[in-house]
Amino acid sequence: MTETLPPLLLVGCGKMGGAMLDGWLKEGLAPSFIVDRHRDSVPAPHHLVRSLDDVPADFRPGMIILATKPQKVDAVLPTVAQFALHAPVISVLAGRTVKSLTDALAALQPPGSPTPIVIRTMPNTPSAIGQGMTVCYAPPIATPAQRRLCTRLLRAVGEVAWVEHEDQIDIVTSISGSGPAYVFLLAELLEQLGVADGLPPDLARLIARQTVSGAGALMQQSGIDAATLRHNVTSPNGTTQKALEVLMADGAWPATLAAALKAGAKRARELSGPQPVS
Ligand SMILES: NC(=O)c1ccc[n+]([C@@H]2O[C@H](COP(=O)([O-])OP(=O)(O)OC[C@H]3O[C@@H](n4cnc5c(N)ncnc54)[C@H](OP(=O)(O)O)[C@@H]3O)[C@@H](O)[C@H]2O)c1
Repeated sequence: MTETLPPLLLVGCGKMGGAMLDGWLKEGLAPSFIVDRHRDSVPAPHHLVRSLDDVPADFRPGMIILATKPQKVDAVLPTVAQFALHAPVISVLAGRTVKSLTDALAALQPPGSPTPIVIRTMPNTPSAIGQGMTVCYAPPIATPAQRRLCTRLLRAVGEVAWVEHEDQIDIVTSISGSGPAYVFLLAELLEQLGVADGLPPDLARLIARQTVSGAGALMQQSGIDAATLRHNVTSPNGTTQKALEVLMADGAWPATLAAALKAGAKRARELSGPQPVS
């Protein structure tokens, strides 16, 4: 039997926080506080409060999770800083560096307090159905036990991986954070092109959606690598080969995708500001 997850303080329970909470509730979670202005309810024995000020000051979470929009986090940091005297913080905020959050929390704590521990993560939206991909970065002062707990929490909503250098989060953001959008775009385009070629809209939508989701499920369930799966549908000189020659031509998909990932990673870097030198 799996051990119950420790009590959590979840600040912000919208799309991402709500997806994570669903996963944790399924795993079994010690009585926790969820802070959110919109959520209707949380099951007993957990507590839903509208403001961090309503969390008892003597609550001792095992982990604090920051899941507000990045631009709204500064308003909660003064109270979070008090709880962070006793617990590490996981941030899912896009574009906030470990250093910026650590410095902001430390400045709000009594002088001489230990350095707050902040672990930065980049999840993605399939977390809502337990199929997420979350990549984490922890500063060297985070303990192995804190990293293990972070892995355990995020595994409740999908796969978890770690990067050793914080700047790798930028390309991760562009691949797995934004990646679902690229796949949805593929489904949209297949549908539109089917309609443009005369298929009834309902049929075009059905075959586009089922092709994208079926291919993803086949890759996941078979465990076979993507290149082999592609070869498996490519008969020599057949229809797939002719289409792939167009997609793989110079300046086509590989170059376009490389440029797209570069643009996304560049934007992630701009949003994060200067990286620490460590
Ligand atoms: N969605 C994604 O695909 C994705 C992927 C990777 C990372 N992220 C990160 O996840 C974070 C959350 O994104 P989201 O899409 O889940 O946002 P969201 O749906 O807007 O959820 C945030 C929730 O926190 C609430 N909140 C904010 N400040 C609060 C406060 N002081 N007291 C109580 N409740 C408060 C918000 O209420 P109000 O609306 O009233 O402020 C909202 O209900 C972001 O930092 C984002 O960068 C999201």
